[in-house]
Amino acid sequence: MSQTRLRLGVLISGRGSNLQALIDASATSAFPAEIALVVSNVANAEGLDRARQAGLETTVIDHKLFLDRAPFEDAITAALEAAGVQLICLAGFMRLLTPGFVTHWRDRMINIHPSLLPAYRGLNTHERALADGVRFTGCTVHYVRPDCDAGPIIAQAAVPVAPDDTPETLAERVLLSEHQIYPEAVRLIAEGRTRIVNEHVLISGTSLPPSTINPKV
Ligand code: GRF
Repeated sequence: MSQTRLRLGVLISGRGSNLQALIDASATSAFPAEIALVVSNVANAEGLDRARQAGLETTVIDHKLFLDRAPFEDAITAALEAAGVQLICLAGFMRLLTPGFVTHWRDRMINIHPSLLPAYRGLNTHERALADGVRFTGCTVHYVRPDCDAGPIIAQAAVPVAPDDTPETLAERVLLSEHQIYPEAVRLIAEGRTRIVNEHVLISGTSLPPSTINPKV
């Protein structure tokens, strides 16, 4: 069974709640992907404990031990390839990636971002959404391209903004949706149902795009 599942490499830097969502999803044998390796650039990342508890292979590749980004990324690629990784899932990985790394893993690397891209790329998304008074925000899973938080969109979830939201309460609610759509996006890819045409993701086998509105206001 395990040979036929897509082998994931999950890159983290911190808490690892999205990693946990992928761990939980892949715990069921019906899920078409499994986590082959968890890579952290931070030795005491909470996500590493989650991975170890799940019995997963982990490795720490500390960016501070490298003089430049390229050799740091080469070490990551070597670890991922040694583990037979077929798809990288960035899950709160807080290092900018060079075009060389992104090109090497083109269409084999996805990211989750806490906004409805292309709105609010970068950091502090919830603060900025609240400052703008938007009624909806959300989260996005996308294929990775050299520009930060850009690339073909696989799945999104919209989350209503409540009048009394703070960045913290909004982040907490968006995170619930992140945990739904990240495994959903991985499933679509693992089932071979995604195709990138003109930098848009086409999904086969459904008439609806894989997007949800989170009803929990
Ligand atoms: C998430 O909000 C994710 O969208 C963003 O970084 C955060 C990581 O959280 N890229 P966690 O480490 O998965 O809990």
